[in-house]
Amino acid sequence: MNMIKEIKIKSDSKYINLIKKDIFMFFQQVSNDFDNKIILIKMGFSQFYIVNDAKLAQFIISKTGRDFEKLGELRAIGDILGEGVLTAKGKNHLNQRRNLLPMFNKANINSFVEFIRNITLQKINSWKQNEVINIMDFSTQLSLDILGKVLFGDLSKDQQESVTRITKNLLEIYHSQRLKNLSHKEIQKKINIAKEELYNLTNEIISSTSTFEGSLVSHLSKVYKDEDDIYLIRDEIITLLLAGHETSSNTITWALYQLAKNNINLESVNIDNLAFETLRLYPAVWRLTRAAIEDINYEKFKFKKGLPIYINIYKIQRNIEVYGDTNFNPTRWSQLTLSQLSKNFHFIPFGSHSRRCIGEHMALTEIKTILETLKEKNIKFKKPDKEINPIDKITLSPSQEVYLEILSKSV
Ligand code: HEM
Repeated sequence: MNMIKEIKIKSDSKYINLIKKDIFMFFQQVSNDFDNKIILIKMGFSQFYIVNDAKLAQFIISKTGRDFEKLGELRAIGDILGEGVLTAKGKNHLNQRRNLLPMFNKANINSFVEFIRNITLQKINSWKQNEVINIMDFSTQLSLDILGKVLFGDLSKDQQESVTRITKNLLEIYHSQRLKNLSHKEIQKKINIAKEELYNLTNEIISSTSTFEGSLVSHLSKVYKDEDDIYLIRDEIITLLLAGHETSSNTITWALYQLAKNNINLESVNIDNLAFETLRLYPAVWRLTRAAIEDINYEKFKFKKGLPIYINIYKIQRNIEVYGDTNFNPTRWSQLTLSQLSKNFHFIPFGSHSRRCIGEHMALTEIKTILETLKEKNIKFKKPDKEINPIDKITLSPSQEVYLEILSKSV
């Protein structure tokens, strides 16, 4: 693999339509066209690097916070996320991360397994043979119910509906911001309304005497005691709602779609292998964004200060020299060693080092428990007619609704 390929994109370039259509598709097309570790894209005044090599990804990710900084798209929604852990830097980031981590450790997250299993059962109990299920709706609702429980505790039906509505509004605002279909003023107004709603809900929950014990809000309200800290708690919640919602629900959707498409029976699948294969081929966070703090040398190459660097996780996890092929095949994981793949940065769906996903264990627990519950009920879906491709919608999302028909289910 050669080190660098430089591509100048002019208005007549074959890539221009792809860039306009979907940035994810553009990234993958250039990455397939040129087998280089780094691709430098030059387009008008803007320039950025695409990194397609695991070793180089390791170099950048392990030096984040020192030689490289987290930069990114998500900064563009800084107005939405406020001071949350995803956008915080330096000491603030370290403190906030330390304050959140106890909520996301294995012991705490394991205490939610029964809840996840029960709400999954509630949803699938009403499913009937030949019924067509909107899988994205199913997994979205589940992931929001789970987030509601972990973040706030036992919410009333009305409160859970508020959480769902506010999260969907925030995501919509983010999409409008990207599509530029609303003015700055209109967006700001919508952000303020959504934030005000969440602030009120958080306040209502903190001041209620009811059962929010054991939730993130309860934990944070003991850590942050000043009157103004309520805003930080709110921003932390917004961050977790956005970071933890579509990521998990998309993974569940891709897993079920791929099982049906490949005629793989859930009964015969090892759920750990299924989760890893889905995260390998459909990493919800398909690229990480960084920038060099100063000019940084890597072998004979120099990353220029400040230029965005996109680590293309999608491409790195589809390396056929490591995995053999790009087919969806959960059984391959019986022969693979997860720790080795993670160590070599060939498998990094949750990132690594100082910015590694806080919700990794929560996501894995949620995904595996939901899939395990479907397996228990012997759910089998019909092979779908439609081919559904991934597109970029902050997270790697299906290009259209995913409908699957139930072939069989045990009572
Ligand atoms: C399949 C599901 C998920 C995937 C694939 C995923 C992936 C990632 C990745 C790759 C990063 C690192 C970003 C970077 O280095 O720039 C990250 C960060 C983060 N994730 Fe997740 N995530 C998932 C679910 C969750 C959940 C459920 C939560 C919490 C409820 C969560 C909360 C966060 C937070 C707060 C960060 C920022 C950490 C920091 O900057 O210190 N994620 N996630």
